[in-house]
Amino acid sequence: MNCKLFLIAAVAALTAGGALTAPAAVNIRIQADQPGAAISPTLWGIFFEDINYGADGGLYPERVKNRSFEFPSPLMGWHVEAQAGVGVLVGTEPAHGVNNRHFLRVTNGGTAAVVLRNEGFFGMGIQQGQEYEFSLQARCVGRERPTLAFTLTGADGRHLAGGSLKGMGNEWKRLAVTVRAGATDLKAHLSILVKGPGSVDLDLISLMPRKTFKNHGLREDMAQMLAELKPGFLRFPGGCIVEGRWLTNRYQWKTTIGPVAERRLIINRWNDEFKHRPAPDYYQSFGLGFFEYFQLCEDIGAEPLPILNCGMACQFNSGELAPMDQLQEYIQDALDLIEFANGPVSSPWGKKRAEMGHPKPFRLKYLGIGNEQWLQPYIDRYAAFARVLKARHPEIQLVSSAGPAPDDEKFRFAWPKLRELKADIVDEHCYARPEWFLNNAHRYDGYDRRGPRVFMGEYAAQSDKTVSVNNRNNWECALAEAAYMTGLERNADVVVMASYAPLFGHEEGWQWRPNLIWCDNLRSYGTPSYYVQQMFSLNKGDRTVPLLLEGVVPTEGGKPRFYATAARDTRTGEIILKVVNATPGAVEAQLTLEGVAWGRGRARVTVLTGGLKDENSIEFPTRVAPVTSTLPLGALAGPFSFWKHSLTVLRVPIR
Ligand code: AHR
Repeated sequence: MNCKLFLIAAVAALTAGGALTAPAAVNIRIQADQPGAAISPTLWGIFFEDINYGADGGLYPERVKNRSFEFPSPLMGWHVEAQAGVGVLVGTEPAHGVNNRHFLRVTNGGTAAVVLRNEGFFGMGIQQGQEYEFSLQARCVGRERPTLAFTLTGADGRHLAGGSLKGMGNEWKRLAVTVRAGATDLKAHLSILVKGPGSVDLDLISLMPRKTFKNHGLREDMAQMLAELKPGFLRFPGGCIVEGRWLTNRYQWKTTIGPVAERRLIINRWNDEFKHRPAPDYYQSFGLGFFEYFQLCEDIGAEPLPILNCGMACQFNSGELAPMDQLQEYIQDALDLIEFANGPVSSPWGKKRAEMGHPKPFRLKYLGIGNEQWLQPYIDRYAAFARVLKARHPEIQLVSSAGPAPDDEKFRFAWPKLRELKADIVDEHCYARPEWFLNNAHRYDGYDRRGPRVFMGEYAAQSDKTVSVNNRNNWECALAEAAYMTGLERNADVVVMASYAPLFGHEEGWQWRPNLIWCDNLRSYGTPSYYVQQMFSLNKGDRTVPLLLEGVVPTEGGKPRFYATAARDTRTGEIILKVVNATPGAVEAQLTLEGVAWGRGRARVTVLTGGLKDENSIEFPTRVAPVTSTLPLGALAGPFSFWKHSLTVLRVPIR
């Protein structure tokens, strides 16, 4: 029997049979009459970074690579298929903005067409029946009038779509045509044909799907996967990408807004970070920039959490520091970002937001100062930012960094200093083996309740080791994360935000694994970790309910491997119980509800389980996926069986 059928049968058996006859090994006492902590609406969120082709080649659906010829190798991604005078010129006129000085001059001296071919990002994903807009900026040079046409061709040579562009004159002009694809191809390519004698200048060559998420320009399937997490926040733009290897290629939000042509392209720091996973064509076009980011937050109902460079380049690389007396530029960037997000349209940056189509503020409430920084240089810089920002914007909660690991000398250095500075929220990171997560579900039980609060800003269980190409997104890792997450929820008075990292991985373009969501040029799927995140997020509740595990708590290798947390959903009048059974056998548990009575109706049971090495894939996207059923409440009177290696969420109406 396949796993899903097995589960359906099992849930059906429970539904029909009610209480099990085996004696309960463990008693789960849900103390619904005891006060619990408020659960922050931001508890479960998303970490986005442009790694693994997460933006260009991913969520930003531009199909043309190097559309403006601004890559350091100006013809990277392009192939010229005819012998003719074809040249790339560096414009001396800032025709399309100072950040876009290159264009392609094509001179056709012969009778055959000059064919310019763009390879896209691992090819171009083209979907049958979908519309695509092909556009470019063009002008003729001189009196001759060559004509322009284009085709989309499948990997097997099949014609998918094509058209011609009319109206070219001697001034730069945007020409566009929309076509419908006649067939699907994951690895299509674009050809532009320049026919007839003469010279033309081409720039900003683009092929975009017409249908995007909420019509806001992002790839629909990928953004939809984010929406389906119902995230409390969206951290952006990273990750080390915030820092840059050197300060010159740090992420600067101001260069990512306004007309796309004017956004300054920079190298993506993951381009050459790992010698074993080189990505020489990885650049940041910023088609997905800060405006699109804020808009995405709004579209998926997530609080924005921008992370800004604090005057420090990546400490794994150069560790370059902006001198303390030159920090003002960086702090000003933070002040201006707050104004861009929240300022009135009469303010300089609020005006820019309005010009981009969003006069209403984005209601920014959180701001991260630096990504994964450490030791005294960071503390000094955080303090300088906090001094200004707290005076000018006391309404903004600041996120500070505790370094790259959850318990090393950098971490132990950071916490007392940040506590002394009365930091709002401290960002902790952890990439470790599944055992770490299983062993640390009680990590926050002993944290000081007086603050600062915790943001578990990057975490993921590593089946091999950090940065290993052998890491797998298997159920064993996801199950360990689920166990750990019960501890985050139980300590919701301390932990106010948490996000798995990284978010996206392109099947052909990854530098780092594991990732929460994988995609190719057309499809995306959630890993087992995705479904764990989703089950916690969709079943968050608004107040924790104290819970005791009594009796014989199941162990493995002498360590407790059975985890639970309970919450109350005041809106629906339900108790939400989450249980992780990380043992290799089913566990019968008695549920005891104290202080309130079971209500009416049925309980909803969602179970996520699988073989420890099971993974999802493009071909089998839901091999490990939750199965939901309902139970009569009477079935909860006797012992309840929790599947081996499972995460179970029970939603029970109470009176
Ligand atoms: O998530 C991948 C990387 O891990 C992030 O960019 C960085 O913050 C961390 O070291």
